[in-house]
Amino acid sequence: MNIKGKVAIVTGGGRGIGRAHALALARAGASVVVNDIGKEFSGEGEASAAPAEAVAAGILRDGGSAVANATDISDWDAVGGLVEATLAAFGRLDIVVNNAGITRGVPIAKATRKDWEQTIAVNLNGAAALTHWAAAYWAGQEPEAGRRIINTTSGMGLTPMPGDSAYSASKAALAMLTMCSAMELAPLGVRVNGVAPVARTRISESVAADLMKPVTAGFDRMSPDHVAALVAYLASSNCRFTGRMLGVIGDDVTLFDGWSVSRDLNNGEQDWSPDGLATALAELPLVQEGLTQGLKATMPYPFPPPSVLEALAAVEKA
Ligand SMILES: NC(=O)c1ccc[n+]([C@@H]2O[C@H](COP(=O)([O-])OP(=O)(O)OC[C@H]3O[C@@H](n4cnc5c(N)ncnc54)[C@H](O)[C@@H]3O)[C@@H](O)[C@H]2O)c1
Repeated sequence: MNIKGKVAIVTGGGRGIGRAHALALARAGASVVVNDIGKEFSGEGEASAAPAEAVAAGILRDGGSAVANATDISDWDAVGGLVEATLAAFGRLDIVVNNAGITRGVPIAKATRKDWEQTIAVNLNGAAALTHWAAAYWAGQEPEAGRRIINTTSGMGLTPMPGDSAYSASKAALAMLTMCSAMELAPLGVRVNGVAPVARTRISESVAADLMKPVTAGFDRMSPDHVAALVAYLASSNCRFTGRMLGVIGDDVTLFDGWSVSRDLNNGEQDWSPDGLATALAELPLVQEGLTQGLKATMPYPFPPPSVLEALAAVEKA
């Protein structure tokens, strides 16, 4: 795995999964800019440089190379400064890990404008901003093999789940950003992939405490280190993929195939009428199967699940 001498930015690297990424990349020989705003997982609270500084200091203590950075990645122009600070510290940039994310845990009917906008601002706009500024820098250099962007999406963005529509929508859009930027940036030597992790952090403990219980012996399925191993692979010269989403929970790694067409109805160059469509579409399956291979532990589907169809039937019968 060739990461030695590379320079990486890890957003949200002060805690949780991002901290594991920063440590893994540093252990593999990269210089790491540990970015973190140091707020609560909802995006509320006072900013603090302490989490990023603690991770960077730990890397230095272990003989690695790192600097801390507390830029708010939802501030598009400030993210240009994050790239400049990276170049000032290490003279180059090879790897971007867009990991920082927030969750406000609010279903759409209850979401405020702030819930929606803040979630999109961090989870989607933050990754887009760093992708933009990194790509703008690379575009000013000669094309070079080994450039990488790894975006952190979520099972909640790749398979439907109720409870936090802003979060799910931000992560779904990030998956599309991953696929489009993989196409746009290939001529610069950039591979762009996404990971959908499940691991024990303050976010996941808040929504699935039982599943996230620390283990006292044996295989620790929820350790963030499993996610970091996949990210270190995607960051390395061994990475074969671009534009792909990979799920990871413990020792399960899942390759997603995105939106795929399962049926095609053709009307022989005749206009469809609404009634004609109703008849033709009546033949198609109501439920999409096979959404969640590898994520069954957390996402009990086909979609829509029977409970959703039952809820609709109860209203429609009344
Ligand atoms: N933990 C899981 O099981 C899980 C599942 C799916 C996706 N994810 C995703 O993994 C990523 C990491 O999450 P985590 O569970 O480690 O959460 P976490 O809250 O422990 O860590 C996220 C870090 O991002 C930082 N951050 C938040 N907003 C920022 C901003 N505007 N600028 C810079 N830094 C900011 C926070 O301060 C925090 O330290 C997130 O994108 C999350 O959505 C996590």
